[in-house]
Amino acid sequence: MREKILDFISSIGYTRPRFAINDSPIVKFILLNTLQYGMKLAITGKGGVGKTTLASLLARIYASEGNKVIAIDANPDANLATALGISADEAQRITPIAELKDLIEERTGAKSGSFGTFFKLNPKVDDIPEQFSIQKDGIKILVMGTVKKGGGGCLCPEGALLKSLVSHLVLSRSEVVIMDMDAGVENLGRGTAKGVDAFIIVVEPGQRSFQTARAIRDLAKDLGVRRCYIVGSKTRDNGERQFIINNLPDFEVLGFINYHPEVGEADRLGKSVFETAPVAVAEVKDIKRKLEQITAGKQRG
Ligand SMILES: Nc1ncnc2c1ncn2[C@@H]1O[C@H](COP(=O)(O)OP(=O)(O)O)[C@@H](O)[C@H]1O
Ligand SMILES: [Mg+2]
Repeated sequence: MREKILDFISSIGYTRPRFAINDSPIVKFILLNTLQYGMKLAITGKGGVGKTTLASLLARIYASEGNKVIAIDANPDANLATALGISADEAQRITPIAELKDLIEERTGAKSGSFGTFFKLNPKVDDIPEQFSIQKDGIKILVMGTVKKGGGGCLCPEGALLKSLVSHLVLSRSEVVIMDMDAGVENLGRGTAKGVDAFIIVVEPGQRSFQTARAIRDLAKDLGVRRCYIVGSKTRDNGERQFIINNLPDFEVLGFINYHPEVGEADRLGKSVFETAPVAVAEVKDIKRKLEQITAGKQRG
């Protein structure tokens, strides 16, 4: 039934209904009564600040509330699966989507790694989350892998597949989608970036991560995105929390994940952060609550 409704809605030109529900009373009625669209969140920031920690905790919290969750690892050195409690052995066996050569060729009509050939820009991707994710604690984990860029920014078949897949996940899925990204938000297409409910930029109390935050915000703005929020990470006292707030005056700060030795311990032991650091879980629950208040206000307004 849900698929039929989604088909109907996309057939009349609504790819991301939540932002267009003012337009038609019929669509509004259908959506409000039958579809629950989960949050689409992109977690970005400088390397090492705590993005994967936050992404893994948000994924587990949403899942523990009964939501279906897709967690995307879009980092070159993928480690979200481990942060979610997948063992190192199992994590090593995951082949990133960008390296599934047969799939890329089957879907795009061209061999991966080929440049300057013809291939489908809109390959079929809607079955990939089911077929190629690994599941843990109610979360589907998708490891994207990296695309080697061709000269002049040209798109290759694996790039087209990943782009379509991310676009599908953000614009057309009802699940909560959490993307653990690096600072390269410009890799998202414009339409996809606009469909993301919030870009969460993680910073630690230091100027370098603030610089990255400002750069990300500017890139996001160029993509037409205005919803960029800050989460402070590894803060040790009120002075450090205030330091972040004072240095990023034109950002809204959603909250803080303070420095907890248990978070590092989870990493050292290869255990899930959610199980190892309950104190961080409580902080991320507060962050999530604040985010939902803000984004609900934005959608009404
Ligand atoms: N709140 C925290 N308290 C203590 N250590 C943390 C905290 N957040 C992250 N870390 C540690 O910092 C390192 C980088 O964290 P990670 O979440 O992988 O960052 P990123 O994904 O931004 O590179 C890891 O070793 C992690 O355990
Ligand atoms: Mg990371």
